[in-house]
Amino acid sequence: MSDKTAIIIGASRGIGLGLAKELASRGYKVIASERSESAELHGAAEAHEGAIEIVRCDVTDPASVAAIKDSCAEGSVDLLVMNAGVYGGSEQELDQLGRDSVADIVMTNAVAPTQAALDLLPLVKRGGTIAMMSSKMGSIDDSSGGVNLYRLSKVSQNMLARSLFAKHAQPRGVGVVSLHPGWVQTDMGGPNALIDVETSVNGMLDVVDRDDGQNHRFIAYDGSEVPW
Ligand SMILES: NC(=O)c1ccc[n+]([C@@H]2O[C@H](COP(=O)([O-])OP(=O)(O)OC[C@H]3O[C@@H](n4cnc5c(N)ncnc54)[C@H](OP(=O)(O)O)[C@@H]3O)[C@@H](O)[C@H]2O)c1
Repeated sequence: MSDKTAIIIGASRGIGLGLAKELASRGYKVIASERSESAELHGAAEAHEGAIEIVRCDVTDPASVAAIKDSCAEGSVDLLVMNAGVYGGSEQELDQLGRDSVADIVMTNAVAPTQAALDLLPLVKRGGTIAMMSSKMGSIDDSSGGVNLYRLSKVSQNMLARSLFAKHAQPRGVGVVSLHPGWVQTDMGGPNALIDVETSVNGMLDVVDRDDGQNHRFIAYDGSEVPW
């Protein structure tokens, strides 16, 4: 056992499930969240014999986020991953954006995860890391446009993650890194995506290991810096 603890918000499938499995294999105690019962996550918990504790959480429901604080002591968590995210459907052209679709995706992908990270921050130990699951699609410099809802939500998340870092995490000695997981074969990424979950997860855990907590950076799974 490595004696380390991680919390993964959004671990029912895809990248979050992959992170839970990999961290458990590395000896972490993992607190992994599902919104509704995930057979895959429960299977992983059985396979890893006690290393994965499953909690219920909808990242947009502050009460369910706060309940996670019952699962671990203040200052005991090495890594908090805010992985939960949605793509936002097919109506993403500029002239299709409406009040409800914008509010939903910005809340789910940007506001709720950073507010949840702020609420859970006291659990993270000095020298620990908060990893925000962003996307290269949230890079303004890298963008040729389109997929506006999703891009808008990840740009917003990056900005709120900067506030989380500068005003809250850094003063407590906790790092914040915004991650691009690559284009990954999951329900969201689809079967034609370029890399598998294991490649993405192992790369991102290397990035987290190398983060010194001094700056808030936007880094891809392969270690390359993503332009804001
Ligand atoms: N796949 C890619 O190529 C790619 C690329 C760049 C960034 N990302 C980002 O990486 C993250 C994971 O993506 P993925 O590909 O693994 O997606 P996925 O297969 O669609 O899984 C999404 C995960 O987020 C959870 N989730 C969604 N809304 C939630 C909410 N309100 N509360 C709690 N959990 C919620 C889902 O839970 P349920 O099972 O309950 O729905 C699921 O566990 C996302 O933030 C995504 O934007 C993915």
